[in-house]
Amino acid sequence: MRKILVTGAAGQIGSELVPALRQLYGDENVIAAGHRTPMPDDVRESGPAITVDVTDVASVQRAVRDHDVGTVYHMSSLLSALAETNRQRAHAVNIEGLYNVLEAAVDNDVDQVIVPSSIAAFGPDTPPDNTPNETLQRPTTLYGISKVFGELMGNYYVEKLGLDVRGLRLPGIISWKTEPTAGTTDYAVAIFYAAIRDGRYTCYLRPDTRLPMMYMPDCIKAIIDLARADASRLRHHTDFNVGAVSFTPAELAEVIASRLPDFSIDYDVDPLRQGIADSWPNSLDDSAAREEWDWNPSFDLDAMADDMLDNLSRKLAGEGRSDQEE
Ligand SMILES: NC(=O)c1ccc[n+]([C@@H]2O[C@H](COP(=O)([O-])OP(=O)(O)OC[C@H]3O[C@@H](n4cnc5c(N)ncnc54)[C@H](O)[C@@H]3O)[C@@H](O)[C@H]2O)c1
Repeated sequence: MRKILVTGAAGQIGSELVPALRQLYGDENVIAAGHRTPMPDDVRESGPAITVDVTDVASVQRAVRDHDVGTVYHMSSLLSALAETNRQRAHAVNIEGLYNVLEAAVDNDVDQVIVPSSIAAFGPDTPPDNTPNETLQRPTTLYGISKVFGELMGNYYVEKLGLDVRGLRLPGIISWKTEPTAGTTDYAVAIFYAAIRDGRYTCYLRPDTRLPMMYMPDCIKAIIDLARADASRLRHHTDFNVGAVSFTPAELAEVIASRLPDFSIDYDVDPLRQGIADSWPNSLDDSAAREEWDWNPSFDLDAMADDMLDNLSRKLAGEGRSDQEE
């Protein structure tokens, strides 16, 4: 089979997508492409691993051409809060990087490109509750603007160039394996680390900030299910809403406190991230994804909290033991 290339393979999602794809398609068929972020050992050691800078045309072209790549999962990105603090890099990675990947795909007869969008593709003018798939978007962050660019460019390559580009608007992703980087929804991961280590957490969002979220196993399932979906059923391509759970920091804290009774939370609001969160939806209407490729998440808030606490406690206990051994 032609190879699968995963850019951003050391990231929060890439580091879990690569093992899932290797399990499905075979270790040798999935190439993990990292950049500066160190790649987790299991990702680096379980199959081919290369370095790709998506802002460098030659680097992207080489990776796609030299490895006979048939599918690209393009996970490289600067997330919301980081993009706001570095406009130039955000433009280079999120806009030029995506363009380089799409062009390399066309030049080298790639069959399919998967590009995640985000709830950041919406803005303050978007209806916030049960946000429709088709609605006014007008994001006010650089990250969100780059995501709308990605959706529109992806659809352009589908229609004008016959490239099979697919994408979904991911909500905040919660996971225990790789810590997230400078996103706005990261509190929902950091709170679990803090609850286990310190029994308390200071949240940078207001207690009533409701945002759509998803647990990593559902995220991986959504990405792979969309990639494998029957093309003849798809009316959308790059811009599927995918919902799973939706909660506020206060609600998440309550769920954690019901499992760790000594846990407490307080709030010290960061205006940058609060402003970003306030411009995003509270919940999503994902009926298009349900109708066109049978999207159906498995984890609700309680199931996610149980699994997070279980896995993260074991991970942190393991790290504690290896620190003592050093
Ligand atoms: N994690 C979330 O909550 C979330 C939510 C919505 C959408 N998404 C989208 O999912 C995708 C993956 O996100 P993630 O959470 O894994 O992000 P991440 O920040 O954890 O990982 C992104 C990776 O991109 C890499 N990168 C940065 N500059 C690069 C360059 N010049 N060349 C190549 N790689 C470069 C980084 O090394 C990093 O490992 C992104 O498109 C993101 O916008 C993520």
